[in-house]
Amino acid sequence: MAQEIVDLFKKITGHAKEYGFIYPSSEIYDGLSAVYDYGPNGVELKNNIKQYWWAAMVQMQENIVGLDSAIFMHPKIWKASGHVDAFNDPLVDNKDSKKRYRADVLIEDQIDKYIAKADKEVEKAIKRFGENFDEALFRKTNERVLANVEKATNLATRLANAMREGNMAELGAILADEEITDPDNGSKNWTEVRQFNLMFYTQLGNISGEEGKLYLRPETAQGIFVNFLNVQKTTRQKVPFGIAQIGKAFRNEIVARQFIFRMREFEQMEMQFFIRPGEEMTWYDTWKRFRMQWHLALGTPQDKLRFKDHDNLAHYANAAVDIQFEFPFGFRELEGIHSRTDFDLKSHQELSGKKLQYFDPELNESYTPYVVETSIGCDRMFLAMLSNAYCEEVIPDADGKESTRVVLTLHPALAPVKIAILPLLKNKEELTAAAKTIYNKLKKEFSCQYDEKDAIGRRYRRQDAIGTPFCLTVDFDTLENGTVTLRDRDTLKQERLTVAQVEDIVRSKVSLAKLLEGLDL
Ligand code: GAP
Repeated sequence: MAQEIVDLFKKITGHAKEYGFIYPSSEIYDGLSAVYDYGPNGVELKNNIKQYWWAAMVQMQENIVGLDSAIFMHPKIWKASGHVDAFNDPLVDNKDSKKRYRADVLIEDQIDKYIAKADKEVEKAIKRFGENFDEALFRKTNERVLANVEKATNLATRLANAMREGNMAELGAILADEEITDPDNGSKNWTEVRQFNLMFYTQLGNISGEEGKLYLRPETAQGIFVNFLNVQKTTRQKVPFGIAQIGKAFRNEIVARQFIFRMREFEQMEMQFFIRPGEEMTWYDTWKRFRMQWHLALGTPQDKLRFKDHDNLAHYANAAVDIQFEFPFGFRELEGIHSRTDFDLKSHQELSGKKLQYFDPELNESYTPYVVETSIGCDRMFLAMLSNAYCEEVIPDADGKESTRVVLTLHPALAPVKIAILPLLKNKEELTAAAKTIYNKLKKEFSCQYDEKDAIGRRYRRQDAIGTPFCLTVDFDTLENGTVTLRDRDTLKQERLTVAQVEDIVRSKVSLAKLLEGLDL
């Protein structure tokens, strides 16, 4: 990673801790790798993300219903789903550093290095040739750019083939051929690459051995599949219909890095849409479109989001795509949309011996529905929103000078605090009393913060740093005519308004309903 990217990412993670968004888990015991706690502002932002997802995926959809299934499930579920046998990552140890890595991630990093080399050539040429530079032509014709792109493409194909075939020896050969070294100490002294199952497990009460082995679910989806008939019968939904849930998932990730991007305990927001066999590609396209709309409605720039088809299809899928977001460390998977065929329902039917079929009254026949799934990590969405919102900018001060502020330009509907109520002075009882009256009124509708400590400028900065879209200041005019000053986080404009006018403005800006208006399935 380039130094400025590392620095930016460090700033974002530092900011997240300093302002109560995310803390390392068990910090006083030196932390627990890839596990994090959400602080007071973090939990609000995370809840707002979940609320937006639930509103768009359940509340707005006549034919989608919710579920909250248990984390522990019968161990056979994970046999049927294929997780016991196939939920593996290729693991490799370095004999010198004693560090453990994912072989495919080391190879992906090597691909990124080739691409970065090509980009560097382009950057150098931009500097050299200035405004008249034709980047597209340069990329097509420059030998060094072409050579690096070719290396990246060939390596990506070789990696994809090895992963598809589960060929661990080939992954080992790639590490050797590419002379890939341990990022920690530069050693090439690797063990053989081997498969590592990512599921955590524990033991059920008084049952010892394999029979009592309970897995912590690695995805929430299986809780939906095994409840398919319960939900269909109790809600009398007709195919096509969906079941959605938000819940914790656990994966014993080998490489846990990049903050909350890859965690061992995380939260998923998943929806399984049950459809007639043969209709999967139409629904797959529909859900791709809708999910992209959901992201764009938050104001995320279009060029920071893209679709990326899977190079390798999982055993259960006949089509799969990621929505990637441009994190500070590059484009990475944010959400997956998968056409899962009838694999899961059929496997559970076979192993449990219970029928999981649907009688379609219009066709007058029974079948095992096909499934299109949308699956997004809540924590990854949180990181996307945090990194997209983090902004350092120079703004004019009250005294005519300039200063730098850190502001989170979060969509107001996601912001942890919607409005801060600030008495101009702390030691004027009339002002603090009037401010508290307003706070007590507004807090019933909005997430508010009352703050009287420090100079007003510093209080504004504190609110900017957590992304509060509005600050309301109570001053001496308030005591005379009931008006207050409303400051807008993004424009910095200050307006003199009545409290009722403030309420209207805040209501319309933070409204989830408005956000949902732009979405249509
Ligand atoms: N049910 C399908 C499924 O679980 P996945 O691509 O393995 O598919 C879906 O995971 C989403 O869950 C990912 O797009 C990502 O946002 C999130 N996710 C997966 N592993 C994660 C991890 N270790 N930490 C944080 N989020 C993760």
